[in-house]
Amino acid sequence: MLFRKKKREEKPIFLENVGDSLRHIAFIMDGNGRWAKARSLPREMGHKKGASVFERITLHCFSRGIHAVTVYAFSTENWSRPQKEVDAIMALLSDYLDYAEQKFKDYDARLVILGDKSRLSPSLREKAERIEEMSKDRSHILNIALNYGARDEIVTACNSLIAEGKTSVTRDDISSHLYTALSGDPDLVVRTGGDFRISNFLLWQSAYAEFYFTKTLWPDLTEGEVDAAIAEFLGRHRRYGGL
Ligand code: IPE
Ligand code: IPE
Ligand code: MG
Repeated sequence: MLFRKKKREEKPIFLENVGDSLRHIAFIMDGNGRWAKARSLPREMGHKKGASVFERITLHCFSRGIHAVTVYAFSTENWSRPQKEVDAIMALLSDYLDYAEQKFKDYDARLVILGDKSRLSPSLREKAERIEEMSKDRSHILNIALNYGARDEIVTACNSLIAEGKTSVTRDDISSHLYTALSGDPDLVVRTGGDFRISNFLLWQSAYAEFYFTKTLWPDLTEGEVDAAIAEFLGRHRRYGGL
């Protein structure tokens, strides 16, 4: 006789201000293309839906009291995609910055772009730099990783240190010359889309991060699942090599 397992009861999760233990959350926003493909839509539509989820999820994290939110929007390797897709992603990011300019005032958040802005179009670059400058006195941080690659970031940091005349460097020297100098290391890295890899994201900074991998495609990610990831994080024991 077969017994059907009783469906696990979905308990609501009550989370208030989690910022003391979870200061910095980072997202590898993966799965937009597959979300579109499953609906017979062009990949660009997956990115469009993904951009709206990105708006919601970042606001949700700030409302939970998290100090810094980092999102991986475009990697140094993503330039190898078809030009049409790259153009669509850049246009969505530009629209997003228009929206964020107003919206993140409410959350007292500043914008920081992680990555080499020199490869962006002059208009996107100017817009990003203007908002970075205009928001720089705010207390929370929204990092958007754009034309970001962790290996390039470490090389750039080393070259800056050499240019400053250093002949030997410390860990703190490197950390303070990374794009994340303001926000520090992530406590929790969430990757959607079902793959178990880091894809050149925050290699130095995630040395002791906790990871949460989910099969959920980025456009399907809900505030409820973010809360579940946070709750799981809060229940973990971070040993940092100790006991
Ligand atoms: C993530 O979604 C967004 C970017 C990398 C820009 P993908 O576009 O990688 O979606 P999948 O992995 O192909 O489904
Ligand atoms: C990681 O996703 C980069 C971003 C989310 C921006 P990718 O889709 O580029 O990663 P891979 O190719 O699966 O490693
Ligand atoms: Mg992908």
